[in-house]
Amino acid sequence: MKKILLSISSAVVILIIQTLYSGCNPSKNISSNSTSLKEGFKNEFLIGTALNATQIEEKEPNAAALVPQQFNAITPENIMKCEIIHPDWDRYDFDLSDKYVEYGKKHKMFIVGHTLIWHSQLAPFVSKIKSSDSLLMFMTNHINTVAGRYAGKVDSWDVVNEALNEDGTLRNSVFLQKLGDDYIRKAFELAAKAAPNTELYYNDYNIEQPKKRAGAIAMIKKLQTSGTRIDGVGIQGHWRINGLPLEDIENSIIEFSALGLKVSFTELDITVLPNPWDLKGADVNQNFEGSPYMNPYPQGLPDSMQIKLAKCYEDLFKIFIKHQDKIERITFWGVNDGQSWLNGWPIKNRTNYPLLFDRNFKPKLAFEKVMALTQKK
Ligand code: G3I
Repeated sequence: MKKILLSISSAVVILIIQTLYSGCNPSKNISSNSTSLKEGFKNEFLIGTALNATQIEEKEPNAAALVPQQFNAITPENIMKCEIIHPDWDRYDFDLSDKYVEYGKKHKMFIVGHTLIWHSQLAPFVSKIKSSDSLLMFMTNHINTVAGRYAGKVDSWDVVNEALNEDGTLRNSVFLQKLGDDYIRKAFELAAKAAPNTELYYNDYNIEQPKKRAGAIAMIKKLQTSGTRIDGVGIQGHWRINGLPLEDIENSIIEFSALGLKVSFTELDITVLPNPWDLKGADVNQNFEGSPYMNPYPQGLPDSMQIKLAKCYEDLFKIFIKHQDKIERITFWGVNDGQSWLNGWPIKNRTNYPLLFDRNFKPKLAFEKVMALTQKK
């Protein structure tokens, strides 16, 4: 009897400790009664994630379980980019993109195509194109073939990606050099023809910043004046834990929406690590790889930083909720911290913590804070 009482009381003690621990642990299992991001925000906006090839092929069991549970929109992190989907002038590789679209259909998700016209991650043959006519032919073939193949299947295309400089002028890309600034209108027109029922977005980073935002607005107005269809603007949302531009973000939502466009946050993540340009006088080209100063949390994020990150996400989502009528989608750039591109950029081999799920696919404090807002609505 004594033995039974002893084991019952030790079980109770363990239970109390576990409960207390989980209450302050910044990374804990989702309890069976806490709902998901997609459920929590189902009346406000879509909640998306970017998928890499392994996740599209469902080779990662944790991601295969978590993604459909939490998200109702997907973006391919890399596999629809030119270098992969259109590696040679007359050769396309739709293996992974077909699987991606099938994945989205299977899980009844909103499927984003990323991206049709971007100066980066172009196939090597594109930089060898000499004449304007050939480049225009490339653009026409590319959009007709890729957007055409997924017409009626992809819900939204990032038609043109990152066409602007920080000062709002047009980036001096191969497209601008050879086709002039009209290439943007041409790209949207081609996409509108190839995928008539798909939403067409302009997507860029830092366009919440006043100068770049003004450039984006001017570009969009020009498209609209010429009668070219554009349905939305994607604010990528690659931000930093120190200095989240909340006021600019809110102003951008209001100003882009005033153009009659849908607004989405398309690549959301928040870096917690120092970057070369944060260091006064730092040479951005300096090699910081292996520097403990630039990679301060290789073993785990301290609670103080978890709390700070959670506050950033909470502040952001408060704005998103406030402007829910203008926002179509919030997409995180990756499923969990381990997958994030920010572990490898701008310095290779670091340990970053920019998302809502940790390396073990467990929700972080930031997830809890965001979910808590769904109770207060
Ligand atoms: O697939 C190759 C692999 O075969 C090769 O061995 C390896 C060697 O470096 O590279 C692999 O390719 C990498 C690719 O990601 C797939 O993992 C590239 O090096 C790497 O540069 C590439 O980075 C991607 C980056 O775009 C390229 O610009 C990131 O994963 C991706 O998250 C990032 O996404 C962009 C958005 O599309 C547009 N907005 C900015 C955002 C962040 O940069």
